[in-house]
Amino acid sequence: MASERPKNLDITKPLLFEIAWEVANKDPLSELRDPNLKLLFPTVGGIYTVIKSKAPVTCQEYGDRYCLIGPLSYKTAPMEVEQVTEPQSETMKVTLENLAARGVKFLYGKWLIEGAPYVLLLDTGSVQHRMNEWKADLWNIAGIPSPPDDHETNEAIVFGYLVAWFLGELTYRQKDTCSVPTSELNDTNRNTTPAIIAQIHEWLAGVALILIRKRNLDIATIFTTHATLLGRYLCAGDVDFYNNLKFFDVDAEAGKRGIYHRYCIERAASHCADVFTTVSHITAYEAEWLLKRKPDGVLPNGLNVVKFSALHEFQNLHARAKEKIHEFIRGHFYGHYDFDLDNTLYFFTAGRYEFRNKGVDMFIESLARLNARLKHYNSPVTVVAFIIMPAPTHSFTVDALKGQAVMKQLKDTVSEIQNNVGSRIFEAAARGKVPDSAHIMSEQDNILLKRRIFALKRDSLPPVVTHNMADDNKDPILGQIRQVKLFNSSQDRVKVIFHPEFLSSNNPLLGMDYEEFVRGCHLGVFPSYYEPWGYTPAECTVMGVPSITTNLSGFGCFMDEMISHPSDYGIYIVDRRLKSVEESCQQLCDHMMDFCQKSRRQRINQRNRTERLSDLLDWKRMGLEYVKARWVAVRRRWPDLVAEQEEAADDSGDEHDFGHGYESDANPAGLHREDLSSLRYRQKVPRPASAPGSPKIREAFDDDEDSLGLFEDSRVDGRVDANSVMEGLKALGLKGTSASYVPP
Ligand code: UDP
Ligand code: G6P
Ligand code: GLC
Repeated sequence: MASERPKNLDITKPLLFEIAWEVANKDPLSELRDPNLKLLFPTVGGIYTVIKSKAPVTCQEYGDRYCLIGPLSYKTAPMEVEQVTEPQSETMKVTLENLAARGVKFLYGKWLIEGAPYVLLLDTGSVQHRMNEWKADLWNIAGIPSPPDDHETNEAIVFGYLVAWFLGELTYRQKDTCSVPTSELNDTNRNTTPAIIAQIHEWLAGVALILIRKRNLDIATIFTTHATLLGRYLCAGDVDFYNNLKFFDVDAEAGKRGIYHRYCIERAASHCADVFTTVSHITAYEAEWLLKRKPDGVLPNGLNVVKFSALHEFQNLHARAKEKIHEFIRGHFYGHYDFDLDNTLYFFTAGRYEFRNKGVDMFIESLARLNARLKHYNSPVTVVAFIIMPAPTHSFTVDALKGQAVMKQLKDTVSEIQNNVGSRIFEAAARGKVPDSAHIMSEQDNILLKRRIFALKRDSLPPVVTHNMADDNKDPILGQIRQVKLFNSSQDRVKVIFHPEFLSSNNPLLGMDYEEFVRGCHLGVFPSYYEPWGYTPAECTVMGVPSITTNLSGFGCFMDEMISHPSDYGIYIVDRRLKSVEESCQQLCDHMMDFCQKSRRQRINQRNRTERLSDLLDWKRMGLEYVKARWVAVRRRWPDLVAEQEEAADDSGDEHDFGHGYESDANPAGLHREDLSSLRYRQKVPRPASAPGSPKIREAFDDDEDSLGLFEDSRVDGRVDANSVMEGLKALGLKGTSASYVPP
């Protein structure tokens, strides 16, 4: 079945469908995942953040022409999506009616996030009876096998067939119905047919791409991979990955790990797309060797940066959130709470539980070394290091809950005594007497207080883990903590708390959501070995929290390319590429030690600098790479129409603006070129105007007002203004981000 090109195809106002498992669903496969099936990696995390945080800029550009497609999870969707009964165009209406008539269930509506994009969530369960037929078809048309017992792949196949069905139906219905959204309909576009672009993320949604190509649907396609399956698996094992990338026998390696069929889907999807992209250069390099297609470009991940109107608001938030962490710490360390919270620093790492890939092995080893050093120098500083990584558990430990309970009781008792004492002072003073300080607390108050203090006694050390682990003995994090003997003893200057569950404000121990927790911490530590991008350090940056990353993470490489001395801005990059494991460990320990030596004023100053980098990570900027990728896809799909457009624009002497909602001056330079690899940075973000705060030159340069040079004139009410920054970047020839492809 080949779809014919409709008349009056309009490439200037296309419809955009973005397809991913994580649409309106943070962990769509959690219900399906079998904890005993070792080959599965949790899908929680970054891709959801990409889709959700990017929605506002894409909505701004595409309006009602934008629609996200994902699988329907009845558990989470009702909380995330508001159903819409009147679709945005006539074609959409007819298409959905047709699908419903054929037994496909779905939820169509608005995703309740900023930008409120349209979403179509397809219920794979409603067409389960067709699964075997579709699996056989995939084998027949693409030679892709699918074993019966891989539930995740089965779901991916059914989802892919549903998406392709929907898109096929939509292109077909475009012939006799109007697909211009009602909100944009006018006399000039009534008889046009908007072109369709489909951007598909990650292998789990990749089957649709194979079908679009096989069925020759008239759709411009982009496949964006956020990692490669094989890369993730190889790195998690004991393999010298980066030095051997060129030499892996990919089919054999995938087969050995039981993921050959998944690998086939990923590889086929990358080859079937008009444009193939990844999220970083390092993953582009990896994809070239493992998927055998060189990506056309890199789409780095952004964030939806929210600016506060008051300069120091984020610093205040830090202080408030830190106070909440203090509260938890008092409870957790009850009976051993013998360190000064004013001299305590909170470090943390977080993300999916991939022990080696996320560099938790290196983190724990370096913490042990830091502990030894701080002890050696008799440092007054205590470091509490949190590890937030979900693992199978049987809920919280009694001890962890008890700690919070006894501390709360003590707090309540003290406030009761405070009231009693206050009343006594008031009574005495009202009678014109100064109260007798020896009797200001009653006998009963004393007894109550003593009882509470006795309740704080404990025989054991404060636990290193907050939950009962499902497999305590085999847990790699606990194993290593035991090996390096970080047991939270009084002498330890580094304490460790492993929280094997993502954070939430409903948590009875640490009742904070993740963002608030990050704000309250001092340093994020992410020494990843395998990290295509790494949102966690990026999120730290926009919240003004310094972080440690590596030159094997997409984010680390990106910041290194953008900033001439990243560490001045609180971005420490550990070299895991050219250094030995031992050297990298030492470097990580050095960075943490340096951080421990900073004064409070230096930390405040550094947080200001870190936060000023957030404009670099804003989707307003990063989104331009998506614009380019879409344009290249359109160009490859409909070269003749693009040529016509260009000719018309040349004849009229107009700037080339193909109406993607972008002003021509905001169009990235690569827009008219076939290849995405045309942009290079001409200048990096320079060092801060003042010398970097270092322990040696402490107070001399401690100046909150040091500026980011480049953005110096971009301040509005003392804040860096995103629009002015864009102007500044343009003046320097920095249009958008680097999309060039440079193997490391
Ligand atoms: N995260 C979260 N709750 C937590 C810890 C982490 O929601 O308690 C999120 C975090 O905000 C980030 C994502 O998990 O967006 C992790 O993404 P990243 O790209 O760092 O790694 P991935 O897990 O995708 O490999
Ligand atoms: C913020 C607050 C200050 C507070 C400081 C603590 O800057 O605005 O009032 O003193 O945080 O910083 P620290 O690095 O010690 O947590
Ligand atoms: C993947 C990668 C992570 C990246 C995220 C979003 O989950 O592991 O590094 O940040 O996708 O692109």
